[in-house]
Amino acid sequence: MRKLVAGNWKMNGTRAALDDLRAIAAAHPSPQVDLLICPPATLLAAASSATEGTPLYIGGQDCHAAPSGAHTGDISAPMLADCGATAVILGHSERRENHHETNGLVRDKALAAFDAGLTAIICIGETLAQREAGDTLDVIRDQLDGSLPDTATAANSVIAYEPVWAIGTGKVASLDQIGEVHDFIRENITARFGDAASGLRLLYGGSVKPGNAAEIFGVSNVDGALVGGASLKEVDFSPIIKALEGTI
Ligand code: PGA
Repeated sequence: MRKLVAGNWKMNGTRAALDDLRAIAAAHPSPQVDLLICPPATLLAAASSATEGTPLYIGGQDCHAAPSGAHTGDISAPMLADCGATAVILGHSERRENHHETNGLVRDKALAAFDAGLTAIICIGETLAQREAGDTLDVIRDQLDGSLPDTATAANSVIAYEPVWAIGTGKVASLDQIGEVHDFIRENITARFGDAASGLRLLYGGSVKPGNAAEIFGVSNVDGALVGGASLKEVDFSPIIKALEGTI
């Protein structure tokens, strides 16, 4: 399994930010892990051109479940692929919350991503209230059962565990909390998919920074990270990439 560092730029970046993308690519000409940045949709085509011939892959942050049609403002998986994207983040907690996305919708979007040849990075994670109620593993099980298609494989899917309370807050889950959930996810998908899931990558996300990346990457069944704020600048993102390379 090749490990993965994915950056989620969220609603940040105009064309000036392509320089940051070039700087990230230039700093890692032959990385020992897979590298992906998901810029806003407005930058996808330019980002693909800017990184052409480098090992930095480009992805989307969401897609519609239909390939085309009357869906004003939405973007389809084939459109992402047409812009040079190779992956798409789906079911991020900000979309589940702000756009009321359900597990079923996330699953349908993942199927659309598979059809377009994109890797689906399916996000799951509990809220603070759910954790405090002791429901974390039940929530994770429901999200896995509902969001992950039956046709998911190590080649077409990545799972990102992002505790909602750790996203953009500076609060990182403890290493024990991360390990418990990642081990649970690995057991769940192994029971469901058998060998097909053995190489399926499990990313941790939520306030991953240069200062905490190495210890997080030391946790069992953590195969990389989904990074928000610290993926915007090369100076923050590079140490995280190097920390993951340090585990190989
Ligand atoms: P953060 O975001 O690293 O800024 O906490 C992570 C994410 O939402 O993917």
